[in-house]
Amino acid sequence: MGPRGEEKPVVRLQKYLAHAGVSSRRKAEEFITAGHVRVNGKTVRELGTSVEAGDRVEFAGNVVVVPDEKRYVVLNKPEKVMTTMRDPGGRKTVASLVPRDGGRVVPVGRLDYDTSGLLFLTNDGDMAHVLTHPKFGVEKTYRAVVQGRLQGEDMKKFIAGVRLDDGRSRPAKLRVVRAGPAVSEIDVTIHEGRNRQVRRMFETTDHPVLSLVRLRFGPLNLGDLSPGTWRDVTDRELSALRALQSDAERSTRDGADDEGDAS
Ligand code: URA
Repeated sequence: MGPRGEEKPVVRLQKYLAHAGVSSRRKAEEFITAGHVRVNGKTVRELGTSVEAGDRVEFAGNVVVVPDEKRYVVLNKPEKVMTTMRDPGGRKTVASLVPRDGGRVVPVGRLDYDTSGLLFLTNDGDMAHVLTHPKFGVEKTYRAVVQGRLQGEDMKKFIAGVRLDDGRSRPAKLRVVRAGPAVSEIDVTIHEGRNRQVRRMFETTDHPVLSLVRLRFGPLNLGDLSPGTWRDVTDRELSALRALQSDAERSTRDGADDEGDAS
């Protein structure tokens, strides 16, 4: 009980870890059963464990604090920046470009070092899980500048699914923005987030990618955000994200789940 006799809020440990941005709830369950989580100095492996205000929760030796508020941020990641919060190799990371006040946000998925554009960051682990899980197939649109003029056969290949070394891609949507003999600009929409997927799809044609920018991630659009700057999501975007999350959670409530993918 709290000081005035009211109940103290009690929350399941896995939910606490997800709210703190450590991971999704399901992944947090694995961390707990694997013995990576301590509460008030004791390792806890039981999934039924609850914590309340004042409890000291540690994950992998670090104290985990649930931020007061959820934060949802869109960054225009420039090229030559790592989509991580730390780089052992000393390269610039997105950590230096996002807000430090309020909850600590982490990237949802990944953009290559050489890819720029929309990167979504949040401290809401459950939302991040839904947005990156392959089974929910959140749409992403990229503007690719490629060498040469794409041929009809190449377009058909993208639409049918491209054979890659880790399996055929799901059908992509293509929009030709500008087609020239030297370079073309193509908007590509995919539902997956495999490593370097768009670049690898174009590599199967004779039209290598010269530059790649992510324009859209689910309901979020890059708009005119300048490279290297960030903004909070709008109320309208947040409602769309929450709608997507609750649809996804409803569709899996009774089913088994597994791990999220790269981007
Ligand atoms: N596809 C790529 O090839 N690179 C990215 O960064 C994202 C998608």
